[in-house]
Amino acid sequence: MTGQESCRNPRFARAYLRVAEQADLRGGAEHRRRLLEGLRGRVLEVGAGQGRNFPHYPGTVTEVVAVEPEETLRSFARRAAERAPVPVTVRAGHAGELPAEPETFDAVVFSLVLCTVDDPRAALAEAARVLRPGGQLRFYEHVRSTRRWAALLEDAVTPLWRRAAGGCHPNRDTPATVRAAGFTVEDVDRFGFSPAPLAPPLAHVLGRATRR
Ligand SMILES: C[S@@+](CC[C@H](N)C(=O)[O-])C[C@H]1O[C@@H](n2cnc3c(N)ncnc32)[C@H](O)[C@@H]1O
Repeated sequence: MTGQESCRNPRFARAYLRVAEQADLRGGAEHRRRLLEGLRGRVLEVGAGQGRNFPHYPGTVTEVVAVEPEETLRSFARRAAERAPVPVTVRAGHAGELPAEPETFDAVVFSLVLCTVDDPRAALAEAARVLRPGGQLRFYEHVRSTRRWAALLEDAVTPLWRRAAGGCHPNRDTPATVRAAGFTVEDVDRFGFSPAPLAPPLAHVLGRATRR
């Protein structure tokens, strides 16, 4: 979606508040817990939305800096940060220019964001910049299906879907992009997940990678 530090998309924000709550009740919350399991030290979360990951950060995390460009979602994230089990600071900003010094984070988290950013490769280069050597990238994303017809359907609906869903692309091969960005991918769990009652199971990944 945005290449701006701060932006307004209240229609998308209101819709996503509802959609994410429903998805979390259907299993998304457990995916978030697995995404963050075992993290330690300083974590930067890119495109944190309304902060639905915050309750799942383990106590071994000393600080989370959560970057969110959209104003409405950012205000909800600030409220969620007050209830989080670890210290969370919410900041305006975007994936293409993270508000952080080089090599200052132990982990960077993308959760349902690499489908949406205009340039995932640039976002991952920024993640690599702020990660210390050996730091971890964690990602939870919906991705292009490996079934040919489903993938072709995803390609076909992408132009319309992007406009309706805040810039989201249903057809990105995110693990391949993470590898191409120079990360060593250690683990990718691939599974179908239906985030809403009438939605078909969509291909999702939970992944861990290391900055070389
Ligand atoms: C589908 S929502 C996911 C929100 C949250 N990460 C979650 O797991 O529920 C996509 C998020 O990416 C944010 N976003 C869009 N473009 C972005 C960019 N260029 N940089 C950072 N965040 C971005 C949106 O504002 C929104 O919060």
